[in-house]
Amino acid sequence: MNRAARATIDTSALRANLRAAARRAPGSRVMAVIKANAYGHGIVPVARALADADAFAVARLEEAVAIRHAGLRNRIVLLEGVFHDDQLGLAAELGLELVVHDIEQVAMLEAADASYRYPVWLKLDTGMNRLGFEPAAAGELVRRLQVCPAVAAPMHLMTHLACADDPEDVTTRDQIESFHMAIADLAGDRSIANSAGLLNWPDSHVDWVRPGIMLYGVSPFAASSGADLGLRPAMTLGSELIAVKRVPAGGRVGYGGVWTAPAETPVGVAAIGYGDGYSRHLGNGTPVRVGESHGRLVGRISMDLITIDLSDVPEPRVGDPVVLWGEGLPVETLARAAGTIPYELLCGVTQRVAMRVV
Ligand SMILES: Cc1ncc(COP(=O)(O)O)c(C=O)c1O
Repeated sequence: MNRAARATIDTSALRANLRAAARRAPGSRVMAVIKANAYGHGIVPVARALADADAFAVARLEEAVAIRHAGLRNRIVLLEGVFHDDQLGLAAELGLELVVHDIEQVAMLEAADASYRYPVWLKLDTGMNRLGFEPAAAGELVRRLQVCPAVAAPMHLMTHLACADDPEDVTTRDQIESFHMAIADLAGDRSIANSAGLLNWPDSHVDWVRPGIMLYGVSPFAASSGADLGLRPAMTLGSELIAVKRVPAGGRVGYGGVWTAPAETPVGVAAIGYGDGYSRHLGNGTPVRVGESHGRLVGRISMDLITIDLSDVPEPRVGDPVVLWGEGLPVETLARAAGTIPYELLCGVTQRVAMRVV
């Protein structure tokens, strides 16, 4: 097999990041968010590495199926609940907990038979205006669901923060207040915080925190990297040089010739491209590690290949390892360069990239 592009997943980093999350929220239980193939890291190896989490959170039934097929019995919360009533049977078989955010889902549970009592997380929309009920409706909905034979008691309550990554934004304070006011008289566990809430807003910790991105060693904040927060990157995306050449002064490199060598320049070609999930929005000058040295991207990213200025790499050779992000080169830096967020880069790593779990 010729799969030079590989993502190395460091399970000790995952475990260390889980411990860091638990330390930051000592009074809370941790629901590890491992949806979207564990943010591109591979849901099964990540679930195994994070098996000490108090629960997992996923977004799709198939993700829960993969966790159960791997033999893991941890609690699993389906963050958007079921989309159709014909999914309820499988959710019961898998022993899932359901988020309920829409009145159709309430009706589905009212019509369901009582052979399984679904633990339910009622989701309130405290300001994100995406999923969830009006906070003022919480009491009435809890009363309605509590008499449902298919719903386990007590119900749990949750909301999601829209702006917790911005320490200056008052929305977070308003959301936390609105949540507490709406549920003051209700029993059940509560959950508010994503990674940014966990790291930045202690008032959001309550019974359960729901970290995602920080477990992968990545900062949820625009201005910092995971290492600044004491986290370790869980994924290193790498490849190798498959050609090294000298481009003469004035030579233009790659599709469209968007980079011109100002002087004779050593250029390496590495086997990775947008077909592997290395964003085509990354431009000339983006840092790339070659062995222990730093190169810079030159020319357009192709489907399978990138071209790298090796001027600062001593004696570059075919076969030299290349790191696109991870250990020594934060994915946060790349995300800023691509005009996106690390979440998107991590989730975008494609199937043909070989995954190596260490
Ligand atoms: C409902 C919910 N909770 C928690 C998270 C985890 O967020 P983060 O990865 O920013 O920690 C997500 C992710 O988008 C989410 O949708």
